[in-house]
Amino acid sequence: MIKPHGSDTLNPLYVADDAKRVALLKEAESLPSLLLNSAAAANAVMLGAGYFNPLTGYMTLADALSVCDSLKTSSGLFWPVPILNVTKESGVKKGKLALRDPNVEGNPVLAIMDVQGVEPVSAEQLSAMALQIFGNVDPQHPGVATFTGLGNTVLSGPIQVLSYSYFEEEFPGTFRTAVEIRDEIAKRGWKKVVAFQTRNPMHRAHEELCRMAKERLNADGIVIHMLLGKLKDGDIPADVRDACIRTMVEHYFEPNTVMITGYGFDMLYAGPREAVLHAVFRQNMGTDYLIVGRDHAGVGDYYGPFDAQTIFDDKVPEGALKIQIFRADNTAFSKKLGRVVMMREAPDHVPDDFIALSGTKVRAMLGAGIAPPQEFSRPEVAKVLMEYYQIADAAKA
Ligand code: ADX
Repeated sequence: MIKPHGSDTLNPLYVADDAKRVALLKEAESLPSLLLNSAAAANAVMLGAGYFNPLTGYMTLADALSVCDSLKTSSGLFWPVPILNVTKESGVKKGKLALRDPNVEGNPVLAIMDVQGVEPVSAEQLSAMALQIFGNVDPQHPGVATFTGLGNTVLSGPIQVLSYSYFEEEFPGTFRTAVEIRDEIAKRGWKKVVAFQTRNPMHRAHEELCRMAKERLNADGIVIHMLLGKLKDGDIPADVRDACIRTMVEHYFEPNTVMITGYGFDMLYAGPREAVLHAVFRQNMGTDYLIVGRDHAGVGDYYGPFDAQTIFDDKVPEGALKIQIFRADNTAFSKKLGRVVMMREAPDHVPDDFIALSGTKVRAMLGAGIAPPQEFSRPEVAKVLMEYYQIADAAKA
């Protein structure tokens, strides 16, 4: 199986030994504690689950600046997006610190950190980093707004993770760690595996991308890996997306060719940089390819439609990653052929021959109470979506 990023074996930071974890939770009660913001909590969950291998904790400011600048930590590890714990709290001291979960009632302890660095970070530094990560500093951009508002102190140091936040309980059938996905791939005997990133209920373009990638790469299986963390307003909640994806796979894929899984991270909307982070953590979960299509991890029109593909040529040095990218062109429904195609593969078509497929468009239709047509969503999936939107509407009324 493909090796993890930066090490021969995966080193998840979750304390899997029950007795040890209970002892650490007990110890945490007597430690000073800090309420995390959601971004830092999501980083802890990803570190715990092995997705951010080989990192051992939160980055220093020097590492973060170096990652933003050159996609490398100060020690030379290839890494595309800083993994930070930035806080607004003042007075945090070096030493052991219990990190509390902002996303679970009662703010239970999520991790214990050995704080080795407490460094001020200025608004200018955050803004300069945001420009490198997101390609802009527009406060309307949801990722920029979150990042620049994180705080003014960078806390760095190793962590021991003691919980997977709300993900295990809310998505028991779907939330998986990188360790679990590696184990499942081995159990199924899959040799060549493709990962599919999504924050959508999977419309026909998404479905077809998975099918095309599997067939063209002659892969044994696809791991659908959906984001279960926080999204911007208007995006479809994870439980509804999960139900749609399960329905779609059940009806339209051969048994035992798809694994449906999810990970606990908040969407950054960092487009190209996030695509590279996506590749890093898909390598860590044991998949050989990641599908990157049009406007991967994008929002609005901040990024060019294929910037998330070209970054792999421009900014990822040869050999920095073992995972490969399956580059997908814009997929659209061909009225002429009656099926979803990659547009570059239908050179005889004129623009009018296509119906453009996008999650944004489907959300707009659903918001207006219109059922997405067959070209956009499978009828079984449209039904699940309509039920949700009617319920959402009734709750608003
Ligand atoms: S993302 O933010 O998670 O990337 P989404 O769930 O919509 O958003 O996309 C999942 C993957 O499908 C991404 O690689 C994206 O580029 C790709 N994709 C979605 N729609 C299309 C489309 N119409 N044509 C080509 N690729 C697409």
